[in-house]
Amino acid sequence: MAAGRSSNLFLLVVLSFLNFFPMFCLSIDTISLNKPILDGQTIVSANGVFELGFFSPNGSEARYAGIWYKELAKRVVWVANRERPLYDSFGGLMIGKYGNLVVVDGGNRTIWSTEVNATSAENMIAVLNDIGNLVLRENSSNGLELWESFDHPSNTMVPGMKIGLNNKTGEKIFILSWKNNSNPSQGDYIAAVEAEQMPQISIWDGDVKHFRTGQWNGRTFIGLRFMNKDYPTGFSLDVNGQEGTTYVSFAAFDVSVPRLIYLNSSGSLVIASWNADKREWTEPSSIPDSTCDVYDTCGSFGRCNDDEWSTICRCMNGYVPRNEDEWNNGNWKGGCLRRQKFRCERNNGSTKGENDDEDDGFMEFPRTKLPDFPRYLLSPDRASCEAACLKNCSCIAYAFVEYIGCMFWENDLIDIQSYAFGGEQFYLRLSHSELGGKRRLKGFEIALIVISGVLGFSLLAYLVCRLRKEGLSNNRGYRNMVSFAKRFASPKGSLTGDSHGYDFSQGKDSEVRIFSLKDIEAATEFFAAANKLGEGGFGSVYKGRLSDGQEIAVKRLSRSSGQGVEEFKNEVILISKLQHRNLVNIIGFCIQEDEKLLVYEYMPNKSLDKFIFGDVMSGEMVLDWKMRYKIIEGIARGVLYLHRDSRLKIIHRDLKTSNILLDDEMNPKISDFGMARIFGGKQDTANTNRVVGTYGYMSPEYGMHGIFSEKSDVFSFGVVLLEIVTARKNSGSYHQDSVNLCGQAWQIWNERKALELLDPRLVGSYYDPSEVIRCIHVGLLCVQDNETDRPTMAAIVSMLSSDMVLSVPKKPVFSIQLGTGERGSTSLSESLVFSAPSVSESIVYGR
Ligand SMILES: *[C@@H]1O[C@H](CO)[C@@H](O)[C@H](O)[C@H]1NC(C)=O
Ligand SMILES: *[C@@H]1O[C@H](CO)[C@@H](O)[C@H](O)[C@H]1NC(C)=O
Ligand SMILES: *[C@@H]1O[C@H](CO)[C@@H](O)[C@H](O)[C@H]1NC(C)=O
Ligand SMILES: *[C@@H]1O[C@H](CO)[C@@H](O)[C@H](O)[C@H]1NC(C)=O
Ligand SMILES: *[C@@H]1O[C@H](CO)[C@@H](O)[C@H](O)[C@H]1NC(C)=O
Ligand SMILES: *[C@@H]1O[C@H](CO)[C@@H](O)[C@H](O)[C@H]1NC(C)=O
Ligand SMILES: *[C@@H]1O[C@H](CO)[C@@H](O)[C@H](O)[C@H]1NC(C)=O
Ligand SMILES: *[C@@H]1O[C@H](CO)[C@@H](O)[C@H](O)[C@H]1NC(C)=O
Ligand SMILES: *[C@@H]1O[C@H](CO)[C@@H](O)[C@H](O)[C@H]1NC(C)=O
Repeated sequence: MAAGRSSNLFLLVVLSFLNFFPMFCLSIDTISLNKPILDGQTIVSANGVFELGFFSPNGSEARYAGIWYKELAKRVVWVANRERPLYDSFGGLMIGKYGNLVVVDGGNRTIWSTEVNATSAENMIAVLNDIGNLVLRENSSNGLELWESFDHPSNTMVPGMKIGLNNKTGEKIFILSWKNNSNPSQGDYIAAVEAEQMPQISIWDGDVKHFRTGQWNGRTFIGLRFMNKDYPTGFSLDVNGQEGTTYVSFAAFDVSVPRLIYLNSSGSLVIASWNADKREWTEPSSIPDSTCDVYDTCGSFGRCNDDEWSTICRCMNGYVPRNEDEWNNGNWKGGCLRRQKFRCERNNGSTKGENDDEDDGFMEFPRTKLPDFPRYLLSPDRASCEAACLKNCSCIAYAFVEYIGCMFWENDLIDIQSYAFGGEQFYLRLSHSELGGKRRLKGFEIALIVISGVLGFSLLAYLVCRLRKEGLSNNRGYRNMVSFAKRFASPKGSLTGDSHGYDFSQGKDSEVRIFSLKDIEAATEFFAAANKLGEGGFGSVYKGRLSDGQEIAVKRLSRSSGQGVEEFKNEVILISKLQHRNLVNIIGFCIQEDEKLLVYEYMPNKSLDKFIFGDVMSGEMVLDWKMRYKIIEGIARGVLYLHRDSRLKIIHRDLKTSNILLDDEMNPKISDFGMARIFGGKQDTANTNRVVGTYGYMSPEYGMHGIFSEKSDVFSFGVVLLEIVTARKNSGSYHQDSVNLCGQAWQIWNERKALELLDPRLVGSYYDPSEVIRCIHVGLLCVQDNETDRPTMAAIVSMLSSDMVLSVPKKPVFSIQLGTGERGSTSLSESLVFSAPSVSESIVYGR
């Protein structure tokens, strides 16, 4: 008894000694004839990344030999005997007869084997390496490799692994789903490479295709929703024509964040990332991730769109449901049929017929997931691709895709999807009359647009005259504006029959609609929490759908904040007169009871901050550089319009990244004019006794003295610009010990290392370094302490689009000092709206 205890103690001492001095603990990464492992023992790769041994899946007692991440939640990445588990703990993994690596049960019966015969077992070793590959090879410096676990995946791809096929040997590597989380035996799904001329990955449920990624274009798979063409996805393709091999491999593009892809038991390819803080695997994205992603949801010639409210499936234009009843009942598998013959079909295949009706043409579908089974044609550009398609009657659609070229389709068009953004342009052949109908409609639409435009313009003219009369051009322009507003928008609600004769419901309805509270309640389902999009300066924003299907965003000014009324009127007046592609469009408003509601066009992509500051792992698309640059330019144009081009000089006063909304083409739209101020023609600066705005975006002179001018917007623009480039928040870093973004950016820029400021997520993707540096430079000029050092918006727009020489920015001392204040990064508009005269005492800034 005593002897037993002391030997245990000895073991303990040895073990803890080994723990303290790991170099003495030669971690064993090899199985050889003399060194098998038994259940309970493991081998570990050289640097301790992966471990091999026996395990039981969660919720199961069965024992499997497998490989798992040693430190990362013991995540299993490979299983040997997935079809034949052991039900006791007497299993072993060893080099067996003929040099195979085998799993044996307690009776030394082989239950799994690598099934490659070596010449001699003595010399064979199986080594687990640090990328998770178990390699069976001869023990010599250039020993023959006979087998590796990477060639026989389970349901998981780790970086460095590949799937694909060898056309010559017929060998295929694919991943196979587990039955369920507690049963690694073969499930229903496989994910494999389809090696056509342009390969794609497809997920199969038996013989039925479940999902496809679309073709590889040299950078990415074109059918992956939200995958950006220029952004590395982690996938790469390796085709070797001579060897006849096509392999898709997957690499972690950010090696500091372990990632893997696995096929789960319901057929989704899931990308999992290691969250080092929570010490768990998170699953930011997966495919398919919508009804429309599922292969062939809408049948042939059907087009799938998740983003529309009405129906998921529609027939392509010029096509009608094969079976109307089924289709209307939501059974879309039957697909659609073409309504009219092509001209070449009417002429027995000849494209030139006696019939002198006009030739077929093409209808363009933007942002499309292209159909399956394309054929390819060598052709230099879209025009010749189109011409070739038109010439051949069996060509029913084409697309010209960057890095792939001319693709065309001859048979049924299957698995088409319309995206909100991304995707490719798709051109569908239609007979002339189908296209003609469309053209007439277009003409009609144009007429409508012209008419409403004329109406709108006259209204604008009227308003401008009206405003002039009201004395807008004098220095008290703003106050007059408000009193003007008060007259037509009394808080009690009635807007019509105003004594000043201004009737908002007449003439204006082509532009701004007045909604009843009932309409809005119906549209937002009584402001259901589920429809809440966010919290703005003066209240909440809800998503809604009008009875005609139009999607809207409703800003509901909070009742409690007495401040809301003026801002409300201000916003209505302002916005209704502003028309610019980079400003958000108001649809209407509602004042009833004590509700004050603004109705805007709905922006499906929400606000810019979601993309810029979104959790890296959230699966949100990462904006590539081109897009960011486009957004920066768009914002600059929008602000320029406010400052200079809109006739009224408007200072926004609350420019910030979360106030920039993105439309479906990712065009930026400035929103939230609740705090904007109109300046009279000659007025340049003003003083306010209510400082509103948001920490981090406020210029020093505005934040401290309440002085605002165009240049305070320029400051905010500069902060937004720097945030877009760096993906770092300015407002978040007002802590004692941290330098804020502007100061930091200046320091790094001054050390000539500006590129280090770039959002790390863009490293490795395409960007023009000179553009990046230029942007940062412009941003730094915008955040200069002294407003006279800041450029005007007009100058900024030309700086961004030309190579003009820029002046050298000074160190933004002040904004750094501002950072030593007590307060956190709350939005002023929510927490610190002061009324005169208390303002001067109440704003606490460290000076
Ligand atoms: C195991 O399964 C249980 C219940 O299904 C679950 O709560 C637990 O988180 C799982 N553990 C792991 C490590 O997956
Ligand atoms: C299993 O095989 C190993 C090596 O060949 C041998 O040492 C061991 O005794 C065998 N065990 C049984 C139960 O036969
Ligand atoms: C390995 O050798 C065994 C016994 O000779 C034989 O049955 C088996 O077919 C061989 N396997 C391969 C892959 O050559
Ligand atoms: C591999 O071969 C070397 C030299 O022949 C030998 O020292 C070593 O022990 C062998 N390793 C194993 C695991 O058998
Ligand atoms: C593989 O072989 C098939 C039939 O021989 C051929 O059609 C296909 O193009 C080949 N694929 C590759 C990638 O070589
Ligand atoms: C997993 O699959 C096996 C076999 O199909 C089944 O017996 C078991 O109940 C399943 N477990 C769970 C948790 O679904
Ligand atoms: C597979 O992944 C999809 C997408 O993440 C998820 O909806 C589904 O529940 C997962 N299936 C299982 C069995 O976990
Ligand atoms: C088209 O061809 C078919 C048989 O080839 C013939 O019967 C028919 O008359 C032709 N029609 C025209 C319009 O040429
Ligand atoms: C049209 O294209 C198909 C497939 O590429 C081809 O077989 C056929 O000969 C072509 N027809 C003409 C008239 O060029």
